[in-house]
Amino acid sequence: HESALAVLDRLCAVIPDYPEEGIVFRDLTPVFADGAGFRTVVEALIEPFRGGFDVVAGVEARGFLLAAAAAYASGTGVVAVRKAGKLPRETFSQDYALEYGSATLEIHKNDLAPGTRVLLLDDVLATGGTLAAAHALFERAGTQVTGIGVVLELDGLPGRERLSAAGVDPESVHVLQKV
Ligand code: PRP
Ligand code: MG
Repeated sequence: HESALAVLDRLCAVIPDYPEEGIVFRDLTPVFADGAGFRTVVEALIEPFRGGFDVVAGVEARGFLLAAAAAYASGTGVVAVRKAGKLPRETFSQDYALEYGSATLEIHKNDLAPGTRVLLLDDVLATGGTLAAAHALFERAGTQVTGIGVVLELDGLPGRERLSAAGVDPESVHVLQKV
């Protein structure tokens, strides 16, 4: 059967100069749209963490697709890390810097018991701001992020450094492909 790397090489679309000149955009939608490819990628993301998490969390929006599938495949629940203003009850809220301006991620305060082991997933690690903020939310909730999984890591950006600075163990970060 085809490896996750082979799936990504075959199906990830590479779009030059999107959303602006000089940026090479990696579009995973064809990977997600392929039944066998999607399954292979989700299984590869979970693989190193099997048995080591109680719930899977995904970051809005693209991380939701991966987290729900990984949770279903593992028989765990799923947690939505949402962009600000979408959750109706009390939240932990974490700002993070974007290239221009800032954004905010939130989780509900009381959805997870302290000590819950969280597998945190997203599609891409770029500057690391998104995952560092999500990680901080679970720490504040008294839960334990035992793994972080991403499909793509963009080379030449300080994603790893930003995660390390946020207190993430580099060993806990699992990347399917560095591009
Ligand atoms: C993209 C991508 C990651 C994040 C990575 O999400 O899906 O979540 O950027 O960038 P970073 O490492 O520099 O933080 P985006 O915020 O564009 O939103 P989306 O998932 O809702 O499309
Ligand atoms: Mg995203």
